[in-house]
Amino acid sequence: MLMEYQDTLKEILSPEEIQKRVRELGEEISRDYESSPLMLVGILKGAYQFLADLSRNITTPHTVDFMRLKSYGSGVESSGQVTITKDLELPVLGNNVVIVEDIIDTGYTLDYLKKMLSLQNAASVKICCLVDKKERRQVDVNADYVGFDIPRGFLVGYGLDYDEKYRYLPGIYHLLPGHEPANFRPSDR
Ligand code: IMP
Ligand code: MG
Repeated sequence: MLMEYQDTLKEILSPEEIQKRVRELGEEISRDYESSPLMLVGILKGAYQFLADLSRNITTPHTVDFMRLKSYGSGVESSGQVTITKDLELPVLGNNVVIVEDIIDTGYTLDYLKKMLSLQNAASVKICCLVDKKERRQVDVNADYVGFDIPRGFLVGYGLDYDEKYRYLPGIYHLLPGHEPANFRPSDR
């Protein structure tokens, strides 16, 4: 880890551990979509690193598109109110969609998105998330492909930010005590 972050961050997943797991997920998805049209939908901004690495490790043909969502909450976490701030550009109809997301936390964001893409007549909609915070779930939505189960704590790095910082780091880290956000809620996802 960079020297300047030694007092701020604690490494939870090394770059090597992440890359190994992403390779495995890519192999699994390649097997599952061997003979059906696959479309990866990355959720900006948090999933940008994960999506790039995952796509490189999927050996079956696929298209890639992005969405950006905003969710509003009471201050501590997201609520059921989700809006789309950047929509898909490719049609969903008839495609097997795999949503690529950084973290499932309360589940509100992905619950909304999964229903919405199903309404647009996707052939199927599955979820691939890098980190699953199962214990924090408020709605019943589950990922089909999970990189890591990490029950709690505010994570940064590998796409994840706190106040737009740390996204570019290649590993995943906890913010050390005293550096955590007062409100555990990134407002824009
Ligand atoms: P939810 O499942 O609707 O609560 O929203 C999950 C989203 O909240 C993720 O896609 C992240 O953008 C954000 N998020 C949740 N936990 C963290 C974290 O520990 N660090 C950074 N962003 C987080
Ligand atoms: Mg996100």
